[in-house]
Amino acid sequence: MLNLGILISGRGSNMEAILDAIKKDKIPINPALIISDVSDARGLHIAKRLGVPAEVIPSAGSRAEYDTMILDALRRYEVTPQNGLVCLAGFMRILGSEFVAKYKNKILNIHPSLLPAFPGLYSQKQALEYGAKVSGCSVHIVDSGVDTGPVIMQAAVPVDVNDTVESLSDKILSKEHIIYPQAVELFARGKIRITGRRVIIS
Ligand code: GRF
Repeated sequence: MLNLGILISGRGSNMEAILDAIKKDKIPINPALIISDVSDARGLHIAKRLGVPAEVIPSAGSRAEYDTMILDALRRYEVTPQNGLVCLAGFMRILGSEFVAKYKNKILNIHPSLLPAFPGLYSQKQALEYGAKVSGCSVHIVDSGVDTGPVIMQAAVPVDVNDTVESLSDKILSKEHIIYPQAVELFARGKIRITGRRVIIS
């Protein structure tokens, strides 16, 4: 079974959705380690409640130095490129290209827009300001760009005239909690193949 590492910075609701699915035996993966760069992240309390090991690695040093600390922690918990999966779930740091190369096609992220629309920060605000009629969320492979890797799954939500950043974010978040565990399950069952930018699900 693969070992799963989840990187968070805050609320941890996507992490919780994934851990819940694992506890319900929907995903055959071992939740090995939660890492937070924020010491009082709400997600750390959830990890504790669910009995999943968690480490706080506060932001420090250069990107390369910080990445080395994360890599060391993942290695200690056997979340390796060979037998591991790393999920970014609201992790607010950008991983360096060496890290990404080491875990090539083994890092997933959830982003609150239909990529390639509205990458980066404040995607829900970007969608509203653009006047998009539909937005949503994307689970994608992490490559060395920001929100640029191959897309595994997406879910759409309508943008209503009365939507605010909060209401749109809530609608999108409820879809995130569905597709992120599904994508992790596909990965854990070896059902994902990547050719170029295309993710083929068997
Ligand atoms: C989510 O909106 C996710 O799409 C984005 O960051 C937020 C994290 O929320 N990457 P949570 O910490 O999982 O609750």
